[in-house]
Amino acid sequence: MEMNWNCGSRHGHERQTPVRFRRFSLIQRNRSILGVAALTLLNLAHASAQDSTIRAVQNIFDPLSAPAEILYRISLLVLATCAIIFLVVAGLLTYAIIRYRRKGGADDLEEPPQVYGSAAIELAWTVPPILIVVVLVLVTARTIGEIQKPKLPNDAEQVRIIGHRFWWEVRYPKYDVVTADEIHVPLSDRSKRIATEFVLESADVIHGFWVPQLNGKTMLVPNHTNTMWVEPYKTGIYLGNCTVLCGAQHANMLIRVVVDTPERYQQWLNEQKATPADDQSVEEGKRQFIANSCGACHDIGGTNAKGVFGPDLTHFASRQTLGSGVAANNEENLRSWLQDPQVLKPGCLMPNMKLGDKQVQSILAYLRTLK
Ligand code: CUA
Repeated sequence: MEMNWNCGSRHGHERQTPVRFRRFSLIQRNRSILGVAALTLLNLAHASAQDSTIRAVQNIFDPLSAPAEILYRISLLVLATCAIIFLVVAGLLTYAIIRYRRKGGADDLEEPPQVYGSAAIELAWTVPPILIVVVLVLVTARTIGEIQKPKLPNDAEQVRIIGHRFWWEVRYPKYDVVTADEIHVPLSDRSKRIATEFVLESADVIHGFWVPQLNGKTMLVPNHTNTMWVEPYKTGIYLGNCTVLCGAQHANMLIRVVVDTPERYQQWLNEQKATPADDQSVEEGKRQFIANSCGACHDIGGTNAKGVFGPDLTHFASRQTLGSGVAANNEENLRSWLQDPQVLKPGCLMPNMKLGDKQVQSILAYLRTLK
């Protein structure tokens, strides 16, 4: 199953990408379109399968979640109000320019009507603007309340998202599930709301969380907790980006929010909760993983690897991308990553571990079993 794994912000980095990856990414993209179409058909037959429709619209005018809709409505109101003001002012200005243009002759010597101090005119250009501003202030205040102090259902899901240079740590405290870069949330329904609250924190510098079709932008600030919520109305994979320049790989700090049906979401949680099955055939890879201190930075459930500096890899093979969306999670890219992470993601904080070919191969085989 091939997926579209990027939202296109990678073009700027192709200069640094080896030819074989560039060629690969084009094939990948074309294949992914067919893949998505085929999967959409497949999903009609199989309701509990994951919907892999990519929702890559980085556009606030196509909201697919309750808070995004609220923001969309107020943006339309403000834009319409401003458009009307613009038309009235530009219309009056045009009228005055044409109607009162210089005519020459006797007209040049005449004084225009003197209206200084006219109460009617003074009121006309002060009262309506004040009313417009008051209305916009009230509507905005109400919207801020709806967005920032929402009345979420008591059973709302909660996800802790911690920004790191240059990836996202994702925790589900209620279920004791930890993952990275791909945030699964349940689908909501207008008649029976299922909301998900995001608790946003940062482990290092300021990051920004923005998936435009789900909600507005929220900062992740060190030593401070922000919250936001989503209530999506369509399943699929929503793409977003870090929105605050946080370092060399800021542009490759991509967000994937996977909106599942509630049944599929529960199934995903159950899969993530389980410890991956011990596969004897990759025992050597597991040994190499520990021997090369990979566990100092990464956690793998059921092993001695307990690091927290890098992404949790307990169910690494279940994720669609690696390096926070920088490349599809397949054998070829994983091999490149293990040989030298700086090839796919120059400036990322994982160093080249200088592994030999055999070590790379065995660790690769091991990681690929972590479903
Ligand atoms: Cu994190 Cu930009």
